[in-house]
Amino acid sequence: MARERVIREPKAIPAVLDPAEGTKKASAAKPARLPVTEGVDSVLVRPPLREDDDSVIKDLRPKRFAEYIGQSTVVDPLGIAVRAAKKRGEPLDHVLFHGPPGLGKTTLAHIIAREMEAHVTHTSGPALERPADVVGLLSNLKKGDVLFIDEIHRLSHAVEEYLYSAMEDFRVDFMTGSGAFAKTISLPLEKFTLVGSTTRAGMLTAPLRERFGLTYHLEFYTDDELTLVVKRSAGILGVKVEAEAAAEIARRSRGTPRIANRLLRRVRDYAEVGGDASGIGIEPDAAVNKDMAAEALRLEGVDELGLDRLDRTYLQTLAVNYQGGPAGVEALAASLNEEQQTLVDVVEPFLLKIGFIVRTPAGRRCTPPGMQHAGEVTHGKSAKGTQQARLV
Ligand SMILES: Nc1ncnc2c1ncn2[C@@H]1O[C@H](COP(=O)(O)OP(=O)(O)OP(=O)(O)O)[C@@H](O)[C@H]1O
Ligand SMILES: [Mg+2]
Repeated sequence: MARERVIREPKAIPAVLDPAEGTKKASAAKPARLPVTEGVDSVLVRPPLREDDDSVIKDLRPKRFAEYIGQSTVVDPLGIAVRAAKKRGEPLDHVLFHGPPGLGKTTLAHIIAREMEAHVTHTSGPALERPADVVGLLSNLKKGDVLFIDEIHRLSHAVEEYLYSAMEDFRVDFMTGSGAFAKTISLPLEKFTLVGSTTRAGMLTAPLRERFGLTYHLEFYTDDELTLVVKRSAGILGVKVEAEAAAEIARRSRGTPRIANRLLRRVRDYAEVGGDASGIGIEPDAAVNKDMAAEALRLEGVDELGLDRLDRTYLQTLAVNYQGGPAGVEALAASLNEEQQTLVDVVEPFLLKIGFIVRTPAGRRCTPPGMQHAGEVTHGKSAKGTQQARLV
């Protein structure tokens, strides 16, 4: 953990995050003050870095459409809309991205701002608690600015209602005074672009959803696309990986670039210290090979399909404890001692995609391939026959 000593006037530590990464994360990086120690007036300690804060470790986020890998059904039409808006000298229509976590929604929001040469304000649904918060933000926007609201499904009703007229008519109406002195004030706004991101499109109200001119669903990436993501990130991080090792990491990344980047870092750690306490890693110039990558990922608990411990425990609970289902997500969350939201947002989308579970009106069901995989996990084998950690 980095420490910073400040003599006399302790000033705020300069933001460790790229300002473009936004208010939510920047405020999370606020320094904590510790008690005074001998010799110095105070010691400021930065909070631990979150592993997924790419910006802190090395910025792996693509900055332009040209760098953004895959998602051509989103990037192609969006690129046209951006170029057309720029040509007309108008702000881009409001954009909504939805899809599972880690697929590049935030990245696209920042790419839009950069391509439009616009300033971006980054906030999130839960951060905008009161109508005053959103009115303050909106009234500070300049023409063409991008307002990015992450987790937009978590906006309160009151705040959401202010957005309706802001998005459609570029004005907000609010009441001042009360009783006989009450009057409505209409505040005109500059034409801005709202970019919303959500993992739960179904939780958006219809009036809000309909106010987005451009709506895109992000899909899981193919193995080939993720191999490109791994190679690109390895280049930025300065890690040499053989093509087969990059493909191995990609194959186990559950179709998600964020996971691919995380697994790449774990493989790098393993390769640097040789995977044991000896601390002897590969030669500085040597490349990570497929076996090394596979072994590092096995130690991480990631199986050949990319399922991690929580995925496997979920599958096993549904298959064994609930005899394949149907089981409600509340019951599964209680059995697994996990947040329901984690199961719905993080675990289930990939299991649905690979056909291991289905959602039915009565609850979640395990499909025959899901039951088979769960059985193999229980008996210590993964789908492709490698040894797995036995789950209980
Ligand atoms: N198309 C891509 N090409 C290369 N890297 C990508 C791509 N999309 C995402 N990434 C990488 O994956 C990481 C996660 O992406 P991002 O934060 O944009 O996901 P998200 O969809 O906003 O996730 P969440 O729903 O959790 O907010 C980024 O830091 C970036 O490094
Ligand atoms: Mg995001």
